[in-house]
Amino acid sequence: MDLKLHGQRVLITGGSKGIGLAIATSFAREGAVPIIVSRSAEALEQAALAVHKATGVVAQTIAADLGTSAGIDSLMALAGDVDILVNNAGAIPGGSLADVDDAKWRQAWELKLFGYINLVRAVLPSMERRGAGVIANIIGMAGAAPRNEYICGSTANAALMAFTQAVGAASPRRGVRVFGINPSPTRSDRMEGMLRAQAVKKLGDEGRWMELTAGLPFGRLTEPCEIADLTVFSCSPLSAYLSGTVINVDGGQMYATPQ
Ligand SMILES: NC(=O)c1ccc[n+]([C@@H]2O[C@H](COP(=O)([O-])OP(=O)(O)OC[C@H]3O[C@@H](n4cnc5c(N)ncnc54)[C@H](OP(=O)(O)O)[C@@H]3O)[C@@H](O)[C@H]2O)c1
Repeated sequence: MDLKLHGQRVLITGGSKGIGLAIATSFAREGAVPIIVSRSAEALEQAALAVHKATGVVAQTIAADLGTSAGIDSLMALAGDVDILVNNAGAIPGGSLADVDDAKWRQAWELKLFGYINLVRAVLPSMERRGAGVIANIIGMAGAAPRNEYICGSTANAALMAFTQAVGAASPRRGVRVFGINPSPTRSDRMEGMLRAQAVKKLGDEGRWMELTAGLPFGRLTEPCEIADLTVFSCSPLSAYLSGTVINVDGGQMYATPQ
């Protein structure tokens, strides 16, 4: 299937590892040009090498801290106009209200909530002027199925779902699509760290974290490539009517009867 993405410039935040790197690789396989962003220039260089090895495509790299306005400004100055934006960089800590103090909460939201909003604010006007463009927000199932033990992330994700639905309901009038994808627990360094912390609390041994994935649909975590391929297809012109909505990728867990 030709996804008609050849030569498209795709800005992917948090593209140095995990879901973001998988998205960059999947876009490159379709002949698109990924522009990957994270704080670590060294990690970006490694990621670009991995994308090149897998696909032969040379990804552009930009180091910026997207939890600050200065980082977003410098990114926009270096990236220029893009055809597709994938908002993905996020690092919200797990824990309940008692675990996440005000400073941690605000710092997490600077990146995952305000970072997403401000990047959309930065790219949407030029997309609308050109009458074309796609924005995909990688959000998270906790927005649709909130969890007390991930309270800070659940609350940010619920806000991002509303933001995505509202912006993506208006943008088609100017030729732009805005939609979201809600991954459920997906294999990545970040998810492994969160499961290790839960394993300490629930099983008294962080080394037993894999046991916590056995009850998931299909008995396993989602793979990053499964989120990546869905994102790439949804950004392609083959999904031309997709906007103002958020796709839940949870294997049906939200509606499953507890075992
Ligand atoms: N994995 C899951 O189970 C899961 C489930 C639902 C939703 N999500 C969402 O999916 C997204 C990706 O998650 P992941 O698990 O793939 O995470 P990950 O493996 O930890 O990767 C996070 C990426 O974001 C970058 N990043 C972190 N802080 C940044 C900052 N201040 N400025 C710029 N870049 C920054 C990291 O690079 P540097 O550290 O070098 O900056 C890295 O490239 C997140 O928004 C997460 O909330 C993940």
